[in-house]
Amino acid sequence: MAWDPGQYLRFADHRARPGVELMARIQHDEPELVVDLGCGPGNLTALLAERWPRARVVGVDSSVEMIEAARRDHPGIEWVVADIASWEPDQPVDVLYSNATLHWLDDHPRLVPLIRSWLRPSGGTAAIQMPDNWWAPTHRVPADILDEGTWPQKAVEALMRDRLSAPENYRRWLQPASVDQWRTTYYQELPGPDAVWNWVTGSLLRPVLTALGDEDRNRFAADCRQRYAEAYPHDADGTVLLPFSRLFMVAAG
Ligand SMILES: C[S@@+](CC[C@H](N)C(=O)[O-])C[C@H]1O[C@@H](n2cnc3c(N)ncnc32)[C@H](O)[C@@H]1O
Repeated sequence: MAWDPGQYLRFADHRARPGVELMARIQHDEPELVVDLGCGPGNLTALLAERWPRARVVGVDSSVEMIEAARRDHPGIEWVVADIASWEPDQPVDVLYSNATLHWLDDHPRLVPLIRSWLRPSGGTAAIQMPDNWWAPTHRVPADILDEGTWPQKAVEALMRDRLSAPENYRRWLQPASVDQWRTTYYQELPGPDAVWNWVTGSLLRPVLTALGDEDRNRFAADCRQRYAEAYPHDADGTVLLPFSRLFMVAAG
């Protein structure tokens, strides 16, 4: 799937804030290796590198477009195009950071203990944040449209469905580290009139739109935009309030 760094960065503040808040909960003085799994265009990886200037910092992402943007904007960091499902570090990881990414991968019961096993046995820390709003109209609307209508199967399959497990499962998979978990709902003010559509096309809807031909894409977009407008009415000045919940966890060994 082609990710679009430009569309993604339009909302860098709303997308970056949870990443910054996650980073703030990591306690580590002198990591040797810091890994950003699913680093996207690298704006948060650059903050990791600023926080630990003596560390080796590696950003991993499966999107060539994202890594090209990251490499261009932040040349001092190691950038790797790879699928998290098959990548592995070449030394123990001191800080493993993954913001808004692991929900794109299947099989968390296998993936999370695997990531946990990469940490340096004493002192390694994993910090993970994933959107946790699968019941919200942002996610329900495209699922309903695809499930109700006639669409190419690859577009139906391209929509990410809920992959999150219960918090207690992540706690178990991350042990024996001590695990701090919390959930935050951000009330995001977005500029209208197509605010929610523009937000969601930067992430969730990208694979679906890529899988549709022009005619189907227009049909899907029209229906989706209308249902979003009904679910998220805008203020007189065109502003839309989008509640967005996220699950956080920091495991420190
Ligand atoms: C929502 S973006 C998050 C980017 C960055 N972490 C941030 O918070 O700004 C999700 C990123 O995960 C990457 N991604 C999705 N599935 C992946 C996989 N299987 N392996 C590596 N990267 C993946 C995408 O390419 C995208 O850059």
